[in-house]
Amino acid sequence: MTLNVAVQMDPIARINIRGDSTFALLLEAQKRGHGLSYYTPDKLSLVGDELVAPVQLLTVRDEPGNHFTLGEPRREPLNAFDVILLRQDPPFDLAYITSTHFLERLQPRTLVVNDPVAVRNAPEKLFVMDFPHLMPPTLISRDLDEINAFRDAHGPVVMKPLHGFGGAAVFRVMPQDMNFGSLFDMFSVTFKEPWVIQRFLPEVKKGDKRIILVDGEFAGAVNRVPAADDLRSNMVRGGAATATELTDREREICTTIGPALRERGLIFVGIDVIDDYLTEINVTSPTGIRAVAKLGGPDVAAKIWDVIESKRASKKA
Ligand SMILES: Nc1ncnc2c1ncn2[C@@H]1O[C@H](COP(=O)(O)OP(=O)(O)O)[C@@H](O)[C@H]1O
Ligand SMILES: [Mg+2]
Repeated sequence: MTLNVAVQMDPIARINIRGDSTFALLLEAQKRGHGLSYYTPDKLSLVGDELVAPVQLLTVRDEPGNHFTLGEPRREPLNAFDVILLRQDPPFDLAYITSTHFLERLQPRTLVVNDPVAVRNAPEKLFVMDFPHLMPPTLISRDLDEINAFRDAHGPVVMKPLHGFGGAAVFRVMPQDMNFGSLFDMFSVTFKEPWVIQRFLPEVKKGDKRIILVDGEFAGAVNRVPAADDLRSNMVRGGAATATELTDREREICTTIGPALRERGLIFVGIDVIDDYLTEINVTSPTGIRAVAKLGGPDVAAKIWDVIESKRASKKA
């Protein structure tokens, strides 16, 4: 079975193909003979009840500097596609939310991966609060009294914006930290939404594990160790990817949350685990496929396409 696939992503000219999971998905799709078309999120138009975009045929090559060829734009209704890959990167803002409202209209005729309704309803640091028993103690608030009470109870904490990504504005705050007052003021002005205040996990120095789940099942993992002088393990912040195995507790985390992911049509999900504590469930545009493969792990892209193909096959049958 070959599928007619369109990818909604940020400009393909700018990606780093060595680390980009979307690119890994595109290479695998092409290898399987699926047709690939491309558009960026700003090109979506809702014309009456029809969602259209000037899509371009896409060919990909695993060669840095020469990784893609695009055809001429042609205006297409998006429900002409079997599959839309929603691979738009955060920020998870109103533009992103609008995208999910647009794409929702294509279902069920077109399979959108991940399901845009679920993506909209599962902001990564909020959805995870459905599983408090798997998490470090966590508060989501911008109320000073509430934050101070939490700090009194838990000692050192991490403070980070609720819809932050890529390690931006993640701070450790110590008890009696003299910077806290200013940090509070700065967060108040900078971030309109409440913030995440979370018990600081010192074992982060050993790494923050990215575990990939495909259709609710474990599919691969990579550990990311922060640079010596940084709290943040994000690879964009200099975190080093290393090979890893799952602990028993991590397996338990996967089996606990797996059904909730599968139920919601969250086919490709990346969770973050520090010291056996779940901190994030990434559903917008998770990464890690290429890092897992490079370290000798499983072929996550192949698993994702196996799932998409079987979902399409059962729909058509
Ligand atoms: N509770 C915590 N304890 C220790 N380190 C943390 C904690 N929360 C976040 N970090 C560090 O900050 C990094 C980024 O935080 P994260 O919550 O994953 O947000 P982002 O969405 O920006 O990746 C993590 O990879 C980790 O290195
Ligand atoms: Mg993270």
